[in-house]
Amino acid sequence: MNIVIRPGAAIDATALAELAARTFEETFAAHNEPEDMALYLASAYGTSRQQKELLDPDVTTLLAEVDRELAGYAQLRSGVTPECVSGEAPFELWRFYVARSWHGRGVAHALMRRVELEASRRGARTLWLGVWEHNERAKAFYRKNGFVDAGSHVFMVGTDAQTDRILVRQLS
Ligand SMILES: CC(C)(COP(=O)(O)OP(=O)(O)OC[C@H]1O[C@@H](n2cnc3c(N)ncnc32)[C@H](O)[C@@H]1OP(=O)(O)O)[C@@H](O)C(=O)NCCC(=O)NCCS
Repeated sequence: MNIVIRPGAAIDATALAELAARTFEETFAAHNEPEDMALYLASAYGTSRQQKELLDPDVTTLLAEVDRELAGYAQLRSGVTPECVSGEAPFELWRFYVARSWHGRGVAHALMRRVELEASRRGARTLWLGVWEHNERAKAFYRKNGFVDAGSHVFMVGTDAQTDRILVRQLS
């Protein structure tokens, strides 16, 4: 199994939009009203939206490929930081998703190592993220990767206000 992590480029927009919508649905469809899912998916994913992100200098997109098949992606961004995040030079790990068929096979591990590298390269000293309070697998994964709970914020899925835990870790 050959896992390659590479930066995303504008040409990847359609494939990224498809993967991003699919992984969001796989993860959250069972826990949300279909109308809220539809609203969220329409607002967050689509070729032009992902193309804008891929061209945005404040966003770093990393794609994970296994034998040339897109298997996961991560996005880092700089910008507004919640008050509960206190470390120096904070960057947000905005999105981190692996397609279901690749869970538990080392793709997430490889992607996280590259996230650390790219975040450090961009000058980050602190990584933070929001994870749905009931997303137990993701919380366990982040704990294994050194993240600790620092607080919470509200995340809207369509019309539904949900609680995300905010997790933080320092980069060496
Ligand atoms: C959260 C997520 C990224 C975690 O990825 P994962 O591959 O499922 O990670 P897990 O920690 O659950 O599984 C890792 C296991 O894979 C197995 N594994 C197999 N090969 C491996 C390898 N080469 N390297 C590391 N682990 C490997 C190990 O058993 C490992 O368990 P261990 O770390 O306890 O030894 C993934 O489940 C996912 O994308 N979920 C849906 C989207 C999501 O919730 N994203 C987060 C939004 S905030």
